[in-house]
Amino acid sequence: MADTVQEIKSRLGILDVIRDDMQLKPAGSSWKGLCPFHHEKTPSFFVSPDRQVWHCFGCGEGGDLFAFVMKRQGLEFREALEMLATRAGVTIEHYDPRRMSQKSALFEILQVAQELYTKMLLSPEGVGAREYLGSRGITTEVIDRWGIGYAPDAWDRMSLELIRRKYRAEDIRTSGLVVPRKAEQKRHLDSLPFYDRFRNRILFPIRDLQGRTVGFGGRVMPVTSPSPSPTRRGESEHDEPKYINTPETPIYEKSKILFALDRARHDIRTKDFAIIVEGYMDALTAHEAGYTNVVATSGTAMTAEHVQIVKRFTENVALSFDEDAAGRAAVERGIDAALAAGMNVSVLSIPNGKDPDECIRHDPALWEAAVRNRQPFLDYIVDRTIAACDLTTVEGKKKAAKTILTAIAKLTNPIEATHYLQKLGNLVQVHEDILRSALTKSAGAKATTPPQASPHIAPEIRSRIIRAAERILGFLLKDRRTLTRVISRLTPAMFSDPRGVALYKALVSFYTQEATRDTPDFFSFDAFIAAYPEGKTYGNELLLRIEQEFPTMTDALVETEVRGNLVVLERAWIQSQLASITRTLALREQAAADDQESIRLMQEFTRLSEMLQHLDRDQ
Ligand code: GTP
Ligand code: MN
Repeated sequence: MADTVQEIKSRLGILDVIRDDMQLKPAGSSWKGLCPFHHEKTPSFFVSPDRQVWHCFGCGEGGDLFAFVMKRQGLEFREALEMLATRAGVTIEHYDPRRMSQKSALFEILQVAQELYTKMLLSPEGVGAREYLGSRGITTEVIDRWGIGYAPDAWDRMSLELIRRKYRAEDIRTSGLVVPRKAEQKRHLDSLPFYDRFRNRILFPIRDLQGRTVGFGGRVMPVTSPSPSPTRRGESEHDEPKYINTPETPIYEKSKILFALDRARHDIRTKDFAIIVEGYMDALTAHEAGYTNVVATSGTAMTAEHVQIVKRFTENVALSFDEDAAGRAAVERGIDAALAAGMNVSVLSIPNGKDPDECIRHDPALWEAAVRNRQPFLDYIVDRTIAACDLTTVEGKKKAAKTILTAIAKLTNPIEATHYLQKLGNLVQVHEDILRSALTKSAGAKATTPPQASPHIAPEIRSRIIRAAERILGFLLKDRRTLTRVISRLTPAMFSDPRGVALYKALVSFYTQEATRDTPDFFSFDAFIAAYPEGKTYGNELLLRIEQEFPTMTDALVETEVRGNLVVLERAWIQSQLASITRTLALREQAAADDQESIRLMQEFTRLSEMLQHLDRDQ
């Protein structure tokens, strides 16, 4: 076993395997990238080809090639071994098919089924399905490329075939390709314990990121097409759902799989942009027409997990809205998930209620225009709101403010939020009444304190803030002039570490008491610690750190460092206030609270955002 593992490692190489999965840039003798196991904006994930290991300094995860694959794909060691062995072309010694892991068996069953379904589509039995597909521009080559198939109108074709191939009944059942028979259905002694899930349907294979078939989307045959004689006569095909999909299985987790992502991933990364559509046919037609950065959600809402997967390849997504679709709410949930993950979300609207498939086949120029003219999500909301609300009335303006505020509250980027708040301000200020009445009414109203901020800060940003706080405290202990530089801008609340809060309070009170003695050199660390013994350990640690970090400490250096780190703390503090206001706005929206308080919060938000922009400019 150890030999097999070694052989696999040396054949595949950790760098190639990981680079296949994520972006890495050279960094000295190793390579670095954004850690796939935690959220970060600056790379702290390192791969060392020399030592064949990876490590993330942000989240502390690390290990060898196997650890990466297991963690990344949620596999057991055995499964990772089988997968990597296949990939490396290494045979596992004493390989016993009966001991094959369940997942491997399922992958094999799905692969076998896909090939069989395609064979049936290309056989005389599949002529009706082929004609229908042909009428929608799907040629034999396309069938081949996507592995499209056809399940004939029968109850046991796939079941029998899988049994004939000696797969365990348990694995066949779990594959999702069959449906267990209820006891009363087993009328004949020879009847199977299950029957085929897909009958008289066109099958689109659903694949995982590695391109392995994990399930099928089965489309009903159109009524008009010359399909083979239906067994259940008299039943209209309209009674059947248009699509039947494989249920969730150990290899098909619906919330994690996007149709066509295996084909789109490279182009999405190259273009740094993904288009998300609803239907299998939409994604397929897009790819065939050369728009290969398109994936489909298969009619369900895009989940937070989908978003995380797409985010491995790009932060820019456009969602194709089907204006009349019942699934519109689902699409909006998808937008929320993408926004929550900090993605740049835009909306792609196709005029005349066409779906992408139709549009691309009949009018590619229209599709290209729709892609080119995609609107940032909030512009889309603003436009839609303007069209829907009568802004000449107070009611209309209130309604508009409410809709747009709700959307703004979803943005995670304060700069972007400010932009739209100003836009909203302009919109409703045209007639001023709302804002004015809001102002007068809220003047007497009590100022509500926003809930304590606990925004999701990326670990590396958090550590930068902690470092800035530690440096400032260090300089405060080292150089008595530091306090006068910071005291007007720094409040204890800006320290996130309670030890920092306490130390800073103690320092300020020590200075204010001692300064009255009018002795210029009154301050020494020892004198301070004598007055505040609790600060001894932490104070020593802080001094050690800055002495290590700045072996030669000139006045100029202290001044620059203090100024720079102060800005880091101020920015972090403002951002946490902004995040807290945003959350409050969203909560108020849910509680259908009155608009006045929302508008007051919005103004506070704008004020803080402007402070933030000043900070950035002055830097
Ligand atoms: P065509 O009608 O052949 O163009 O297929 P389409 O893929 O464009 O389908 P449509 O736009 O009607 O629906 C979008 C997606 O929603 C489909 O691709 C399916 O994934 C899903 N879907 C549609 N109808 C059903 C259904 O009846 N059941 C389920 N489970 N999913 C469906
Ligand atoms: Mn369609």
